[in-house]
Amino acid sequence: MKLQGDGFPLRRGAVSELDIAWAIWCEANIAAGRGPGSKATLGRIKRRLAFGTTTLFFAVQDGESVGVTMLAQAREKSGDGNPVDGLGHLSTVAVKPAYWGRGIARALVNEALNEARVRKFERVQLWVNAWNARAIRLYEFLGFRQTTDQQLDDYGKLMHRYEISVEL
Ligand SMILES: CC(C)(COP(=O)(O)OP(=O)(O)OC[C@H]1O[C@@H](n2cnc3c(N)ncnc32)[C@H](O)[C@@H]1OP(=O)(O)O)[C@@H](O)C(=O)NCCC(=O)NCCS
Repeated sequence: MKLQGDGFPLRRGAVSELDIAWAIWCEANIAAGRGPGSKATLGRIKRRLAFGTTTLFFAVQDGESVGVTMLAQAREKSGDGNPVDGLGHLSTVAVKPAYWGRGIARALVNEALNEARVRKFERVQLWVNAWNARAIRLYEFLGFRQTTDQQLDDYGKLMHRYEISVEL
């Protein structure tokens, strides 16, 4: 399905396109100084996609998928437990470095928020590293607010949980 987000061509991805999403994630994270994605992250993405209710979005430039994000039903126990009523979970926001600063991540996240409205989520959450100023600027610009929830990522770095209320 073709979508048009903030003037950028977006499309929905299939579960079989995990490898495309993973390649974008790894390239973007290396450029951001975090190193390639960990096995634990890949496992989490696979588990989320295995739930049929997760939607994958790609941004397309010159026929190539250059950005990705996913909207899932939020679940207890870091994604493995029961669904949390009314709460969407945004993850895997990444853009190939050659395309940074053009509003592609903003378009992807906006599209995921549109989907959250369609799915009648009341709120959407995400986790972001405290050091990731660029991503935090983007999320705060879009209206996400930091909560008091914190955890350490796979590398022992601090992450904050952010949340936005979805206007239905
Ligand atoms: C974080 C990341 C996804 C941003 O992608 P991007 O396509 O460059 O993001 P955008 O161009 O949509 O927006 C980012 C910037 O524009 C700003 N921005 C976007 N729209 C704006 C607007 N209308 N007005 C003001 N600022 C705006 C954002 O706040 C941010 O600020 P900066 O350019 O000063 O850094 C990308 O850098 C990346 O892939 N990083 C590695 C992976 C990662 O860390 N993902 C986040 C995990 S939580």
